[in-house]
Amino acid sequence: MIIAANFKTNHTRKSTKEFIKELDYFLRLHDIDDTVVIFPPNTAYDNFDTDIKLGAQNAYHVEKGSFTGEIGLEQLNEFGIKTILIGHSERRHILGETQELISKKFKFFSKNGFEIIYCIGEPKEIREQGIEAVMEYLWKQFDNIDINYDRLIVAYEPVWAIGTGLTATVTQIDETLNLLRDRIKAPLLYGGSVKVANIKEILTIRNCNGVLVGTASWEIKSFCDMISISKTL
Ligand code: 13P
Repeated sequence: MIIAANFKTNHTRKSTKEFIKELDYFLRLHDIDDTVVIFPPNTAYDNFDTDIKLGAQNAYHVEKGSFTGEIGLEQLNEFGIKTILIGHSERRHILGETQELISKKFKFFSKNGFEIIYCIGEPKEIREQGIEAVMEYLWKQFDNIDINYDRLIVAYEPVWAIGTGLTATVTQIDETLNLLRDRIKAPLLYGGSVKVANIKEILTIRNCNGVLVGTASWEIKSFCDMISISKTL
């Protein structure tokens, strides 16, 4: 199983360091073999004394250059970061990233051998139209994306379930992941209000290979509790 924590715009350099230290201790103590990935804010990157995988929440598709406010490959290389989130709904809907920009990022970071957690998800009004509309919407989010890239992981995160406390039902997740599985060989994650109370039922869904957690991952105890539950499955 893959258990990933997206810190979004939370945690400082200091609190990330403490989080990773406690997490590292927990993983060693309990001999966890799940893949745990942390996506801290950029300001918290460091050469931590741990094997825990660190990823980038976002980066621009350049090695370096004049792109005010962005970071590129050079800045990620400094910290050995080789995993990146691309296409997160907050970047699509709040920061205005188009499919064209997203596909450029995908091309650049795949060419550079990154593991890519590629995020897709439909808004509420599409979900309300039924599964066919949902799948049509989701497949469009694969425009100009190489679904056969060997370091691809796909995260299905319905927009209406992110940060809202509303989780998609097991039936909705199961149906959507099954339909994605028809065309996609890569591991499939679910994200959207995953928490201690629901992670077990989500991880037991047939085509679910892990979770991408926001809010419930920001507190070390809750994140470790979710990892413990995963270990029992
Ligand atoms: P929440 O777990 O806060 O709903 O966020 C999910 C998410 O966006 C992970 O990338």
